[in-house]
Amino acid sequence: MDNLVSGRKENVPADAAFYEIDICDRAAVEKAFQEFRPTAVSHQAAQASVAVSVREPQMDATVNILGSLNILTASVAHAVERVVFASTGGAIYGEVPDGIRASVSYSPVPISPYACSKFAVEKYLECFRQQSGLAYTVLRYANVYGPRQDPHGEAGVVAIFCNRILAGEGIQINARKQPGDEGCVRDYVFVEDVVRANIAALSGQIPDPILNVGTGLETTTQQLAEVLQQEIGNTVEMKPAPMRAGDVERSLLDADRLQELLGPVVSIKEGLARTAVWFKERHQNSWRWLSLWPVGVDCGLASSVPCAGELTMDTSSIKNQTMAVPANKCRRGSYARCTKSSISSMR
Ligand SMILES: NC(=O)c1ccc[n+]([C@@H]2O[C@H](COP(=O)([O-])OP(=O)(O)OC[C@H]3O[C@@H](n4cnc5c(N)ncnc54)[C@H](O)[C@@H]3O)[C@@H](O)[C@H]2O)c1
Repeated sequence: MDNLVSGRKENVPADAAFYEIDICDRAAVEKAFQEFRPTAVSHQAAQASVAVSVREPQMDATVNILGSLNILTASVAHAVERVVFASTGGAIYGEVPDGIRASVSYSPVPISPYACSKFAVEKYLECFRQQSGLAYTVLRYANVYGPRQDPHGEAGVVAIFCNRILAGEGIQINARKQPGDEGCVRDYVFVEDVVRANIAALSGQIPDPILNVGTGLETTTQQLAEVLQQEIGNTVEMKPAPMRAGDVERSLLDADRLQELLGPVVSIKEGLARTAVWFKERHQNSWRWLSLWPVGVDCGLASSVPCAGELTMDTSSIKNQTMAVPANKCRRGSYARCTKSSISSMR
């Protein structure tokens, strides 16, 4: 189930049943449960940005608390065997002092509405376990990164940096304390390890009710930017910026238990290298696509370019994709970042 507000249909496997619904629509959620009859539920849908939650706490709570309640009550009503919930280790513990890694026994101190809403759902899960015997696993993710991350939102620094470095655009280092410092400290976990944790949790292989999903290694925003520039092979301006409201200065997870259960995690060096390769290939392909496009085809961000018709592409790396492009409607960030003049100059 996904309302595609930030997700993309093309990331859904063709043979998967897909329900395009808003989790806040209780009747639609109930209908989907009735039709699909899941034995296990992986609840990932969320308003996932700390910055948005600070600006719009009501909207954050509506999706992340009330929407989640629709999933949890339907799970109870349909006797789902297990719910896996994507929570946040990056935000829920609040400030993690230097020299400390937050373990699951560390008391959460949420300092953003996003962290509050995730913590609230953890508590509802505990409540439904006691009331109705609902079995669940809470996975508290660190900062997730990897191929296919969306660079167009306000979260996802790795994807945002990759895109900007490839485009030769400057990047912003949001301050930890003062503009000009190395930026916040984070625990960056590769998406593959998050997937491994989810699969293990869904199949009941994680005995713990709550598990941190991270690496236990700290990286500053500046270190991240430097490694990505090396991997991509392009140097761009790094602009100091003020702190962002709601961001914790330092977040670092104790991920020993994850590694005990699932084995070693992907190192930040390897994960960033693999991510950079993916973004580089996508960047090169997007220029190849542009050279095939007639003027007027969906250009992603350039809403001034009128769109028309349907485009079939067949290149070595993109297999026979057909994309319907509604007239005069650009889907933000759909394919590539370009302008009318850049399309013309590529033809
Ligand atoms: N990315 C991270 O670093 C990170 C860290 C901690 C926790 N998480 C959690 O992991 C999950 C996935 O995050 P992500 O980074 O992939 O974010 P994302 O925004 O890419 O994915 C969220 C998905 O939820 C869908 N969605 C949003 N509102 C919806 C609604 N009302 N109804 C139905 N679908 C809706 C979106 O379309 C999107 O597909 C989220 O629950 C997020 O809070 C992510």
